[in-house]
Amino acid sequence: MKQTLETVVLLNFGCSDIQKFARAIRDRHIYTMVMPYTVTADRVRQENPCGLIVCADAGTPARPEAMEKFAALNLPTLTLDNGAADVEKAVEFCFNECKCSGSWKMENFIEEAIADIRAQVGSGKVVLGLSGGVDSSVVAALLHKAIGDQLTCVFVNHGLLRKNEAEMVQKIFARNFKMNLCYIDASDRFLDKLKGVADPEQKRKIIGKEFIEVFAEAASKTGAEFLGQGTIYPDILESIPLDGDPKGVIKSHHNVGGLPENLKFKLVEPVERLFKDEVRAVGKLLGLPSELLDRHPFPGPSLGVRHIGPIERDTLKILQEADAIVTEELIKADWYHKTWQTFAIFLPIKTVGIKNGQRSYDYVIAIRSINSVDAVTAEVVQLPWSLLDIMMKRIISEVDGVNRVVYDITQKPPGTIEWE
Ligand code: XMP
Repeated sequence: MKQTLETVVLLNFGCSDIQKFARAIRDRHIYTMVMPYTVTADRVRQENPCGLIVCADAGTPARPEAMEKFAALNLPTLTLDNGAADVEKAVEFCFNECKCSGSWKMENFIEEAIADIRAQVGSGKVVLGLSGGVDSSVVAALLHKAIGDQLTCVFVNHGLLRKNEAEMVQKIFARNFKMNLCYIDASDRFLDKLKGVADPEQKRKIIGKEFIEVFAEAASKTGAEFLGQGTIYPDILESIPLDGDPKGVIKSHHNVGGLPENLKFKLVEPVERLFKDEVRAVGKLLGLPSELLDRHPFPGPSLGVRHIGPIERDTLKILQEADAIVTEELIKADWYHKTWQTFAIFLPIKTVGIKNGQRSYDYVIAIRSINSVDAVTAEVVQLPWSLLDIMMKRIISEVDGVNRVVYDITQKPPGTIEWE
């Protein structure tokens, strides 16, 4: 694929906005790669770039001694040192001095990725863990287009999914795409292990460990030698130390999800060079529905970290029902895409109320709605009172066991987005 790409390399001298830069230039159909300034000139040469952009900040200037080694590459070079205002200048540089033609398009990416996958896998088998999230879903669609029945997707239902989620994933992948989908309902196994566990870290550990065991067992049964992974470019960039071993740029990231050592899969990571929005664009071109591609981010441990206290089947059902109402009303009111995440949380406290004219003593549901750019900080969304009122009324009348709904008004920090 590299041969046909016009690549501009961004040398990172500690610029905090570098991912934003790389992404913005790609929006103009110019392929960018980010490398730490410690990279060797030879490593840069391997990518056959048509230009270099030196990205520094006021606090981290591009030191001349660090720049010296790149002079031998004899490439057009632009130095940027103050944030997003310079993107336009960078784009002009790519077109005018690097002579880029602007051919980085997702349609071309798909064609080339398919050829790459076929070349790597040959007639081998690939197994992929499908979570219903954007990255693994797009990788599933891409692999399927490339190798069809040589792919088996494994979808583990750990019992902590949202209402109707297992059905939705099966419908999209097994029925519409006709993929080999191995669906494992391991709800009982997970919920039994989680019985009585209240500590959030403990819950996360149990869910993670069981997940790996169930997945590894299913994966080894497929006889696959390759493991598909939804690694994306930010995963890789964030694992490269700026001052560390320059070889790190090739790939230090290998998030194989902690699979046991004896399962020696070769990795297939077809979207590892893409940013999230590009992954979505590929998914759209491959025919994945918006209900899957444009969903709010969802944590790995799923409703497990939105159900405070020990998880019981009946209280988990309360959370699933309440969460479904929140999402449904949010979509109906056209607020879903205006928020980063909006969801319900189950609180294991009972309060006194009046339901159907009678004294009740039931649980509390909290609603949280936030906006964020990168999930590092988040602001609370002031959802219309009328919408919150509808959610509250529906939750109380339709979900048995709840008689009070509260709204979380805590920004991040000090609160985290998830409650656990
Ligand atoms: P917090 O709660 O740390 O969440 O403010 C930040 C973002 O990350 C999501 N999140 C997770 N995502 N696995 C994930 O893939 C996890 O264990 C996990 N925990 C939190 C959270 O939903 C928010 O978008």
